[in-house]
Amino acid sequence: ATKPHYKGVRFLVSAGPTRERIDPVRYLSNDSTGTMGYAIARMAWRMGADVTLVSGPSELADPLGVSMIRVTTASEMERVMIDHAKDADVIIMTAAVADYRPEAVLEKKLKKTQDTLSLSLVKNPDILSQLRDHMKPRAKLVGFAAETHDHEHYAQKKLREKRLDFVVLNDVLEPGAGFGTGTNRVTVYAANGSVTPFAQADKLTVAKALLQLIHAQREV
Ligand code: C5P
Repeated sequence: ATKPHYKGVRFLVSAGPTRERIDPVRYLSNDSTGTMGYAIARMAWRMGADVTLVSGPSELADPLGVSMIRVTTASEMERVMIDHAKDADVIIMTAAVADYRPEAVLEKKLKKTQDTLSLSLVKNPDILSQLRDHMKPRAKLVGFAAETHDHEHYAQKKLREKRLDFVVLNDVLEPGAGFGTGTNRVTVYAANGSVTPFAQADKLTVAKALLQLIHAQREV
């Protein structure tokens, strides 16, 4: 049995991709399946926490015991995360939020009349970097980073600039880590300077190790 580490602790977790509409039948999205975030939500609940999972479009079933909020776009996810941030003791942002969305959503289906087509995109809000301003003072904020190069540099930069307690880094080019795989291999960078590499494992095991690490630092 999993030790109930987190009794009375409130988690807010985001997961999955976001979907940004182009026209009534098309959208921009990414390869995130939601597996990592759902595993964290499931494991936090097993460890005794009260868990809210904010999920972009995902095929995964609702984890047992978790209160689910399903969203589609980055803007919807932004609103829900900010609304719920004040109640949380730990916020973990695993969602692969689309960085850009079409400038306008077409009301009618785009027709294939042109030989070339350019789509005008605008930047989506960065949800994670706003959350610190809406949280309880002692609450922990955790971000994810999927990088292909200069991993450590970007991890440290994200910790500082987004005012995080932890950033969980995965190398998306490495086999067995990141999108669409059952396993993950991550390194956790903490604001206190500690760097903790985890062994490659299934995502539920990675979730457990991460939650234990966060727990250890909530104590100090
Ligand atoms: O800056 P970058 O996108 O690499 O940071 C990744 C982290 O930021 C992830 O935790 C992701 O969920 C979050 N993020 C966000 N809003 C965005 C883009 C990323 O909250 N628009």
